[in-house]
Amino acid sequence: MKATAIAPANIAFIKYWGKRDEKLRIPANTSISMNLSAAFTSTTVEFSKNLSRHHIELVDEMFSDKEISRIVLHLDRIRDRAGIAQFAKVITKNTFPKGTGIASSASGFAALTVAASAAAGLSLSEKELTILARLGSGSACRSIPNGFVEWTTGEESDDSYACSLYPPEYWDLRDILCIVETKTKEVSSATGMEFAQTSPLWETRQNEIPERIAQLKQALREKNFQLFGEIIEEDCLSMYKVMNTQVSPLFYWTKTTEDCIKEVQANRASGTLAYFTIDAGPNVHIICEGNSEKKVVDRVKRILGVQSVLINKPSVGAHLIKEHLF
Ligand code: PMV
Repeated sequence: MKATAIAPANIAFIKYWGKRDEKLRIPANTSISMNLSAAFTSTTVEFSKNLSRHHIELVDEMFSDKEISRIVLHLDRIRDRAGIAQFAKVITKNTFPKGTGIASSASGFAALTVAASAAAGLSLSEKELTILARLGSGSACRSIPNGFVEWTTGEESDDSYACSLYPPEYWDLRDILCIVETKTKEVSSATGMEFAQTSPLWETRQNEIPERIAQLKQALREKNFQLFGEIIEEDCLSMYKVMNTQVSPLFYWTKTTEDCIKEVQANRASGTLAYFTIDAGPNVHIICEGNSEKKVVDRVKRILGVQSVLINKPSVGAHLIKEHLF
């Protein structure tokens, strides 16, 4: 009853910010993302009759009490589904700092879902795994399928799931992830987005999204990088405006975040096509094609305040592996 899974973080190109159903984590809108090869979580879960409570550990970092409760709730959801009463030992490890807007909850809950359901003896389809992962953390459902992924909103739990649009090798894109802050943010995305609907810009954003999704899908289909880049920046800024105008407003960016954005614009002015997108945090994802990687990385490393740079390619989704963490 022991299993280990690896799951990637993902970067949203069309963002999820706001829910239709809080409890079931059904998003207000469909979103599209790409899995990241260098930002991932490995998790080993073992259910055992020798445990009298769940034991949960994050290597090199600490989970807050709130994070622990969310993990316990997810483990209990999986135990109920499998009909087992045993408690679990969970050891988990990230390749990047958690809680800084690099979708650690996405990779974390995707890895936990895949490892815990296998350890509990469940045999679930990819669609079922995405639905289960969504209940732990919305964006986690997009870290289950491979490559470029769409998570459809839905009326009910069973029709809000994620599936792959294209495999990782479909388009040689890079996500040059500029880490400008490693401290856990004060307001998590789960809490922050509970107030999304209070923004006067909420309706506008929701009305614009279907057209943006259609254009992003066209850009993906045609591998039209300029159109793709323009849409992802537009959607990132649209989400950010909602965050900044909701009650209470959220301000995740720092001066270095803005310097990275200016650098992306300078890249474009000098003929290197690159575009930015940012989730709920200060760290900047610079998206470019593979042949621009070196130029973009060399320039961004020179920005004061960029602590490290993670170079991501499109990646496979969550999967089980044979080696365990304990
Ligand atoms: O699933 P959560 O609670 O981590 O929310 C993710 C929200 C954003 O990262 C800001 C956008 C997205 O679609 O990933």
